[in-house]
Amino acid sequence: MHDVIVIGGGVIGLSIARELAGRKAVLVLDRGATGEGTSWAAAGMLSPLSEADDQDPFFQLCRASHDSYRKFIGELEDETGIDCGYSGSGLLCLACSEESANALRRRCEWQRKAGFAVENISGDEVRRMEPLITADILTALFMPAESSVAPRRLVNALRESCLKRGVEIRTGARVQGISKNAVRTDGLTFEAPGIVVASGVWSPELAGLDPPIPVYPRKGQILSLCMPPGAFRHMIRWHHSYFVPRNNGDLIVGATDEDVGFDRSVTPAGIGKLLADAQAISSHVGSYPIMETWTGLRPATQDGLPVIGPSAIPGVFYATAHYRNGVLLAPITASIIADLVSNGRSRVAIEPYAPSRFGNSGTDA
Ligand code: FAD
Ligand code: GLY
Repeated sequence: MHDVIVIGGGVIGLSIARELAGRKAVLVLDRGATGEGTSWAAAGMLSPLSEADDQDPFFQLCRASHDSYRKFIGELEDETGIDCGYSGSGLLCLACSEESANALRRRCEWQRKAGFAVENISGDEVRRMEPLITADILTALFMPAESSVAPRRLVNALRESCLKRGVEIRTGARVQGISKNAVRTDGLTFEAPGIVVASGVWSPELAGLDPPIPVYPRKGQILSLCMPPGAFRHMIRWHHSYFVPRNNGDLIVGATDEDVGFDRSVTPAGIGKLLADAQAISSHVGSYPIMETWTGLRPATQDGLPVIGPSAIPGVFYATAHYRNGVLLAPITASIIADLVSNGRSRVAIEPYAPSRFGNSGTDA
């Protein structure tokens, strides 16, 4: 009936299904509705430069995905008519202490040498770009090419695009286990030569995985403030917090990164820290309404890298553990998995992400 079954309808699973559609008959199975997992919680930063300390392979993967994003979004929006909230207005990294100023200078130096768009700017320039900022800024970096999307809109668009392209999506279908060419839910077995595990932080729950996927949750608490359009114009990073303005003015303030298992509670400590950081950057934000607070569970591995590639079971591929960058990495993950499913090879180097690093006999592409 189907050539490929994708387990999980988050940003990763839907991007993969969409990429394969047309070439393959694809079935997506999600235990809930699509897009209600971690993708729903994301801030939507597409920012390969702002967390990178060198040009390691993971940075290259993030950059390659970022390079394809504008086209990815353009095609999705044309196809579905859904505005994905894309913004290409760039990102400011701010330093208010000598220690963080030095770290930013080092980042600026290697990134400029490597030819990336990054500018060292003064506090006065920051205030010209962001008039609501009131913090004393020692130095700042501006990364004009960094961008963002609204993940909930993106996932809606991906689902619509999948349906238009002929993907079958079954919701309320919790997969219990997998084996070669078969996926078992509560009452049914689905067969297909290709199976893709894209069930995010819940991937380890599937019976029959070889190798097991040692993914664990890292909780992110996050909130949004209702602000007028144009109040903030760029994404901003400061200490461990970030601020992402949506096109309608809403300001996303994120995020904690906590090792507390599957607990998803919103806590005074978590939200309090985000609100304190927001008010430290701008004394104006304190008077705007808090619209929403929420949490999500990032799918993480001990080495911080995603798990993308063939498992030890022929025809079964993993696409999970995207931790802090699943939204950013969706297009490139989709293209890697589509290549692997279609012809067994990836055009992108994926050795660092091989499932076999967790100790199996699987072959790396
Ligand atoms: P999910 O979105 O969780 O999708 C997995 C799907 O699998 C779910 O729909 C679930 O219902 C389904 N599923 C699970 N188990 C089963 C089963 N047994 N059977 C059937 N279906 C199943 N990334 C960025 O790139 N930029 C950001 O700015 C960013 N900000 C973030 C902020 C926060 C607070 C958090 C928490 C994360 C952030 N991320 C960000 C990370 C990003 O959200 C994740 O890496 C990404 O959403 C993972 O996508 P996914 O499709 O693998 O997982
Ligand atoms: N990439 C932002 C986050 O994970 O919070």
